[in-house]
Amino acid sequence: MHGFCDLHCHILYGVDDGAQTKEEARALIDGAYASGTRTICFTPHYNPLRALASAGAEERFASFSAEMKEVYPDLTLCLGAEVLYHQKIAESLANGACRTLNGTRFVLIEFLPDDDGAYIVRSLETVTARGYAPILAHAERYADFLDHPGYAFSLAEKDIPIQLNVRSVTGENGKKVKKFCHLLLKHGAVAAIATDAHDPVLSDAKLDEGYRCVARKFGEEYAHSLFSAMPRSLLGLREQERSSPDGE
Ligand SMILES: [Fe+2]
Repeated sequence: MHGFCDLHCHILYGVDDGAQTKEEARALIDGAYASGTRTICFTPHYNPLRALASAGAEERFASFSAEMKEVYPDLTLCLGAEVLYHQKIAESLANGACRTLNGTRFVLIEFLPDDDGAYIVRSLETVTARGYAPILAHAERYADFLDHPGYAFSLAEKDIPIQLNVRSVTGENGKKVKKFCHLLLKHGAVAAIATDAHDPVLSDAKLDEGYRCVARKFGEEYAHSLFSAMPRSLLGLREQERSSPDGE
């Protein structure tokens, strides 16, 4: 089993539209751990237009992660945010209204599904110019990217990391989305695959199926990078020892 790293999820409970109760969060953590995840970064939504988004996340993280550490001592938990792009994003980060991933320079940024591809690329460049390192959340969710994959390739050329959602890679979000994801994977344009898990009923915190899908089609090395090494590096964590497929 591999130590997967999930750098995008809404498991921290009661702070956004993800898990609402400690029980729901615990169910998501249990599912993630059972399927081989050993590092999770909680990324509650930050939307500047919704004051309550992500409020109280630090306190909730401190208490919940301490509790989970008792249950799963080898599970690494950290805190970040999924920030909806806005013009004053650098100010929001500087004044603590929202946060980077695990205190690094990396910021997980999302846009609205209908936002123009050129606008997305240009906006991420402005974040870079302000001294932060943007990561584009679920690149497959933007209609203009699906129709024009060149936007994604131009981000990869600029070393702006792209994250895909695991359910999109495995085909659960439709053929067109899967085709787009696999095109990017084929060209090495993806940095990380994460769950974006919200819902314990869907038990969508699992990365193992996606890992197998990518390893089968694109090789073990790339799969290891996308599900473990690169996301850990983006979180400022050292790479873990490789483990054999048979044992932890
Ligand atoms: Fe998300």
